[in-house]
Amino acid sequence: MRVLLTGGAGYIGSHTALCLLNAGYDVIVLDNLSNSSPEALRRVEKLTGKSAPLIVGDCTDRNDLKRVFETGPIDAVIHFAGFKAVGESVEKPLDYYDNNLSATIHLCEVMKEYGCHIIVFSSSATVYGTNQTMPLREDFPTGCTNPYGWTKWISERILTDAAAADRDMSVVLLRYFNPIGAHESGCIGEDPSGIPLNLMPYVCQVASGKLQRLRVFGNDYPTPDGTGVRDYIHVCDLAEGHLAALRYAAENRGTQVVNLGTGVGYSVLDIVKAFEKANDLTIPYDICPRRPGDIATCYADVQKAKEVLHWQAKRTLEDMCKDAWNWQKNNPRGYEK
Ligand code: NAD
Ligand code: UD1
Repeated sequence: MRVLLTGGAGYIGSHTALCLLNAGYDVIVLDNLSNSSPEALRRVEKLTGKSAPLIVGDCTDRNDLKRVFETGPIDAVIHFAGFKAVGESVEKPLDYYDNNLSATIHLCEVMKEYGCHIIVFSSSATVYGTNQTMPLREDFPTGCTNPYGWTKWISERILTDAAAADRDMSVVLLRYFNPIGAHESGCIGEDPSGIPLNLMPYVCQVASGKLQRLRVFGNDYPTPDGTGVRDYIHVCDLAEGHLAALRYAAENRGTQVVNLGTGVGYSVLDIVKAFEKANDLTIPYDICPRRPGDIATCYADVQKAKEVLHWQAKRTLEDMCKDAWNWQKNNPRGYEK
């Protein structure tokens, strides 16, 4: 099976490329490198001993998409490509709607033209919005609080409607919770540009001395220790979830929406303590005001992933903390783009 990974040079895409190559799939990547480096795929090739060809191009450009499909038959697409920073999406909503939605629409059109019917899409737990009871189940009502979230919500809608109109299509919408960590080799990982916005990359940069102290955003949430609770999932477990989704989609038609999480919530202070213990380091932190837009608690119901995809996360929080630090330690300047 030959699989196109749009955005495959990015954090989750590169880990998924590695996982698919190891499982015997052929892979081709289309990425405009707006938030990634080709070095990630060179390292994937080194680790697997297999080729992961990269076409530098844009998913919003039909000619670039066609260039990829002209390289030979593509059996399935995993669509990672998109902008992903929540705060930036509030400042530049049109850029987000334009990039993330044009990419999804043009990709679907070109897939149809070339007779490719299988698509796995990177959605997010952000589509569950706020004020939900936990754990979050796929049939819960959805709604978003920022343009980034709406691009995921609308892309889900577009793909669901496209599949309803085309009985050959198979769509799996994967709602990721909080991916963290890195491949155990320490050769590929998350390489945020500038000061990290997310918790684990920030903790890693405090550990390395690049940043001074962690700011814990709020300790007055209705959670056991007052800090925000999230469902952190090892990026390699997440990558394996995509393999399971591809296997499912190859055998079934229509649309499925599936959470990819562990089903367990950890607080910010749980993460700090686990990171310190796993790596024998100290993370200095200050308690700061809440970050606007944050919710208290978010974790997945993972029953459907088990039943439909026969997949569940295997790696522990200790694995996530060790692997995140191993990557940071070995690559203090990321891929040095
Ligand atoms: P990432 O930024 O590392 O990867 C996205 C890739 O898409 C980058 O390599 C970027 O260069 C590329 N890209 C962006 N727009 C493109 C375009 N128009 N054409 C071609 N390439 C384009 O992000 P990631 O963390 O690997 O996330 C992958 C997907 O998963 C994204 O769609 C993201 O919204 C979604 N997601 C991520 C998280 C997370 O916490 N990382 C959580 C939920 C959902
Ligand atoms: C964020 C995005 C979400 C995206 C997810 C995965 C926002 C509002 N949401 O989720 O759409 O799908 O990333 O990448 O940006 N925290 C600190 N100090 C920090 C950073 C974070 O205390 O320096 C806390 C946050 O308040 C939160 C937890 O750590 O309680 C996790 O934060 P983060 O890693 O940014 O992920 P989310 O906010 O869950």
